[in-house]
Amino acid sequence: MRVGVLTGGGDCPGLNAVIRAVTRRSLDRDHEVIGVVEGWRGLVENRLRSLGRREISGILPRGGTIIATSRTNPYTLEGGVERALRTFGDNLDALVAIGGEDTLGVASRLNLEHSLPVVGVPKTIDNDLSGTDYTFGFDTAVAICTEAIDRLHTTAESHNRVMVVEVMGRHTGWIAVMSGIAGGADVVLIPEQPLTVEDTCAEIQKRHRRGKDFSIVVVSEGYKLTYASGEQLEVTQAAPRDQFGHVRLGGVGESLAQEIESRTGFETRVTVLGHVQRGGTPTARDRVLATRFGLAAADLVHEGRFGRMVALRGDDIVDIALEQAVAELKRVPPGWYEVAKAFFG
Ligand code: F6P
Repeated sequence: MRVGVLTGGGDCPGLNAVIRAVTRRSLDRDHEVIGVVEGWRGLVENRLRSLGRREISGILPRGGTIIATSRTNPYTLEGGVERALRTFGDNLDALVAIGGEDTLGVASRLNLEHSLPVVGVPKTIDNDLSGTDYTFGFDTAVAICTEAIDRLHTTAESHNRVMVVEVMGRHTGWIAVMSGIAGGADVVLIPEQPLTVEDTCAEIQKRHRRGKDFSIVVVSEGYKLTYASGEQLEVTQAAPRDQFGHVRLGGVGESLAQEIESRTGFETRVTVLGHVQRGGTPTARDRVLATRFGLAAADLVHEGRFGRMVALRGDDIVDIALEQAVAELKRVPPGWYEVAKAFFG
């Protein structure tokens, strides 16, 4: 069997661990493995490269993806779906799609509408994919943010400053809430629980009144500035939407810092962690999860069980219907936010 592998959407540490596991398992069963370069774009443009033992040697700890990625959506390109299906038909017998809601959404449509024999692997630092308890990439992003928050504590304390830390997560606050808990943030702001600017300032002022002259505020990029009046303001970058219609988030940290400084009078600075959260080597947890996902995906392919996505349920690797997995975003439940909130102010 000629097994294709593609990585789509935002990259993250752990992708190469999945590629390594899928390739190794498939080669051991005498299947051929072919990398589709730059996600769905590689299928539309017929850009393939063979993956053998040499290509996967040493890639387990490497961030990024050796077969590159893109945010290409075949459904928005003239003839994109037809060209992708033609490339598949001419070169492949099965496909493993590694990606988030966008990449796997395309996989699900192609499976339902064209019976594409595809298996999904859930990937994103955002951890916003329903159907799996965790996605790989998330643990590494939280570890990076936590270390940054620890470092910001010492400079905030030395200057008696408020440090605003803007983290990724798109429209959910998983990275913010987990790194906020791990890093001991004094306020955490997420899209799911939009604390107002006024209440945020009140929490900081409460700290200062009890002699804590510095604060750490972690804000998710998707948090909308929310005011007691009920008004909300989404802060985005001046850039075109991508092929899945996403605005380019980023900048809410700066706006929030200006509000805090002007309302409280406390010196405030901003750190935007940006793509640092997606770079470098994966944590051990992400390496192990990604490896388990890759082996399970190769097994589904070998067994001919397509239209499925591997997932983590507790400590077990299961598989669920791909269509179900991309049906809705997984948002931060109130219970997790309550853990962070226990240490506000
Ligand atoms: O989905 C992962 C993610 O890092 C989001 O958290 C973020 O909003 C987005 O990708 C950034 O996309 P890009 O790398 O295309 O700017």
